[in-house]
Formats: sequence, C-alpha cells, structure tokens
Amino acid sequence: MRDEELIEKAKKAKEFAHAPYSKFKVGAALLTKNGKLYTGANVENSSYGLSMCAERVTLFCAVSSGEKEFSKLAIVTDSEEPVTPCGACRQTLLEFDGELEIICATTEGKMKIYKLKELLPEPFKFKR
Ligand code: THU
Repeated sequence: MRDEELIEKAKKAKEFAHAPYSKFKVGAALLTKNGKLYTGANVENSSYGLSMCAERVTLFCAVSSGEKEFSKLAIVTDSEEPVTPCGACRQTLLEFDGELEIICATTEGKMKIYKLKELLPEPFKFKR
C-alpha cells in the first residue's frame, strides 16, 4: 500500500477518536508485512490518565488479532505540523521492530517520515 493510501486510512480513523477533553483527534493506520491493515484513534477518559493514544489502540488491536510483523504506521492529526508518537508509544511499538516506518501527517497534507529506531535510539530491552 502506498504511503498516501495509508495516510488516508488514518485520516478516516481519526473521525472515530473520542477526544472530548483535549479536542485533539489522532488517527492511526498500521500495515502488516503481509498486507493487512489495522486502524485506530485515541480514546480519552474523564479520568484523564486512563486515556489511550491512537498508536497503541491500533497496535494492540493488531497484535491481539495475531499480527506481530509491521512495515508502516501512519499517524494523522489536525495540527499545524505533523506530530510524532509519544515516548510510551515509541517504546510499545519498538517491542516489535525498530525498522518500522513512521509516517506523520497532517490533514492539510504536511508529512514527515521516520524510522522508529531513530525516534527511540536507546530503547529498554528485557534481557536475562
Ligand atoms: N495522542 C495520541 O493519540 N497520539 C500521539 O502521538 C500524541 C497524543 C492523544 C492522547 C490524547 O488523547 C490527545 O492526543 C492529547 O494529548
């Protein structure tokens, strides 16, 4: 799937965000290496700390559906500039593959692309 199509999927998913507190809607679209697509949006809670980012909603949906190999993640926001995933999402995504391509886009068409390992260069890895 082309980056533009993945961004379009994330843009559509953004509309399902539940963000009555921050009013900041985020949509995400995650492509697996075998071509399957998962989408998600941020889900906030009146107990603010229970809110969940779009990236983790999407990743957890994919992983709990049996997927573990991902190629690209698109994130779309209404902001002036593209936003990158928060630290918690970076660590959570890195559990699977530091080579993941992260496409950060705005609804107005600005875009930045990163490798996950470049956004989180020294991740925690559990080794015995
Ligand atoms: N948020 C995301 O969903 N992803 C990000 O990359 C940054 C922040 C959400 C969390 C919260 O619902 C709202 O955006 C404002 O922080």
